[in-house]
Amino acid sequence: MLNGKTAVITGGTQSIGFEIAKTFAKNGAAIAIIDICDAEKAAPAVSEIDALGVSCKSYQCNVADAAQVAETCKQILADFGKVDILVNNAGITRDNLILKMSEADFDAVVDVNLKGAFYMIKNFYRPMMKQRSGKIINISSVSGLFGNPGQANYSSSKAGIIGLTKSTAKELASRGVNCNAIAPGFIMTSMTTAFQENDELKKPSRSAASVSRRMWQSWRCSWHPRCRIISQARSSAATAAWQCDAQVRRRGGAEPALAG
Ligand SMILES: NC(=O)c1ccc[n+]([C@@H]2O[C@H](COP(=O)([O-])OP(=O)(O)OC[C@H]3O[C@@H](n4cnc5c(N)ncnc54)[C@H](O)[C@@H]3O)[C@@H](O)[C@H]2O)c1
Repeated sequence: MLNGKTAVITGGTQSIGFEIAKTFAKNGAAIAIIDICDAEKAAPAVSEIDALGVSCKSYQCNVADAAQVAETCKQILADFGKVDILVNNAGITRDNLILKMSEADFDAVVDVNLKGAFYMIKNFYRPMMKQRSGKIINISSVSGLFGNPGQANYSSSKAGIIGLTKSTAKELASRGVNCNAIAPGFIMTSMTTAFQENDELKKPSRSAASVSRRMWQSWRCSWHPRCRIISQARSSAATAAWQCDAQVRRRGGAEPALAG
């Protein structure tokens, strides 16, 4: 399905990003992984994808740094010759109630989750426009669709991703480039483990415990009234692969929420 295509996945060394990278590789795409972690940490992901018989390279880059992103995207184009698919998956959380959330924590999350995606799109915009084809997938969240207590920064960044997606879709549709978002529900990854193990939220104060409980409940319930199903990384990967299918030509600016 993706033979001859090159896919760039940010935050692709683990969890959802890695699952997307593997799914694309199994479908024949060459993979460029961008991650803030160093080459040594990225090595297991690269060798697992290499073993699938496609070429795979990792690039250490902080997506929140415009200059680093520009340099990395240039290098990827030099190494692979073209980019057909871009998945903006890299993301972080810095959860807290608005009352306690610092401006630095608000900015850090928006810088990685939203501005990072903007920088990536900006750098592959012209090459995709020129080749008159391309698929851009931005990973949002149900938190961006419905909000979540303790996640004003994260929800804002993920709601922003949806606006970025719709504008990109409208700008690039006439050039044969699709842009869509995926809004997963709660998925067990290192991001959500950190959320559950947040020391601040584990403090024996009543308010901290109840904030933790409310966040957990709300995140799980925000999309599913029965609160039973927890999504899996491979659901996001399968949705991403479907959106990259050559047959899915006309779909642009959508943000399906994933319910398991
Ligand atoms: N896990 C969930 O429940 C869930 C739900 C909805 C949406 N999401 C979104 O899915 C995406 C992946 O989440 P995950 O759960 O796999 O998280 P994760 O923490 O397991 O993985 C995130 C990856 O992004 C990389 N990264 C972080 N900051 C970066 C930066 N500045 N530059 C480059 N790379 C950076 C990390 O090194 C890591 O490899 C995120 O955008 C997240 O917001 C996750």
